[in-house]
Amino acid sequence: MSHQSTIKRITAPEIAARKGCEPIVVLTSYHAQTAALVDPHVDILMVGDSLGMVMHGLDTTVPVPLDLMIAHAQAVVRASSRALVVVDMPFGSYEESPALAFRSAARIMKETGCGAVKLEGGVQMAETIAYLSARGIPVMGHIGMTPQSVNQLGGFAARGRRRAEWAKFEEDAKAVAEAGAFAMVIEAVAEALAARITRDVPIPTIGIGASAECDGQVLVLEDMLGLAPRVPKFVKEYAQLRSAVEGAVKAYAQDVRARAFPAEEHTYSTLEELPEALKKLNISVS
Ligand code: KIV
Repeated sequence: MSHQSTIKRITAPEIAARKGCEPIVVLTSYHAQTAALVDPHVDILMVGDSLGMVMHGLDTTVPVPLDLMIAHAQAVVRASSRALVVVDMPFGSYEESPALAFRSAARIMKETGCGAVKLEGGVQMAETIAYLSARGIPVMGHIGMTPQSVNQLGGFAARGRRRAEWAKFEEDAKAVAEAGAFAMVIEAVAEALAARITRDVPIPTIGIGASAECDGQVLVLEDMLGLAPRVPKFVKEYAQLRSAVEGAVKAYAQDVRARAFPAEEHTYSTLEELPEALKKLNISVS
């Protein structure tokens, strides 16, 4: 078989091999222009189903459809060339059976060109992770606080803050790793639990609200840019884009109302007016 493509992107096996090495840098990405900006600086662009809340104003990720994930993932893959793109499998697209999960994951991989999928759940999803992994689909797991189960959990609160709860999460982590996942997200758990899981599983752990003990970190881009109205305790805002956007929009509205925008440099002249304009600038045309 001739093999022409020169694969430049970071791959799932390369991420798996980073266990215990240089920390893995991950940010969410839903949108072409920001994907292009973020791509050179991260290892993984995560098309998370949090896009339903951030981009589409939903209260939870539960209603996010597969087609919406695919549309956003296509934009992110088109705009990036270096990072591994991982796409979330949305609620309802995989839990019913490994076969359904394969059909959904295959659609995601074929229609977007991404390098891996992510799904939520521990012991109960191990069979599905094994099924996909054995059929050419790299899977990232997601344990701890799993937002697609918000209705069952009763909210987005951190998990595993009592030692008595740890066994369940440790079993989940072990099951996900043994099933063949190449990495796993651990969301919103106590530091000591994240440290134990990271020590005990052979694949990288990517923390979000799970402390610096993990092998890598992920944040929602809009949260760390300071665009979100409220952020959880575990978010560090590296910029204040909310106030920057508000300031720019206010200035634009004032300019339009005062007819100060558009100015001459934003305006097309007729071609007959052009020599006059050049004369004004002291430029001669022969
Ligand atoms: O939906 C999402 O964006 C995620 C990441 C934050 C891990 O699951």
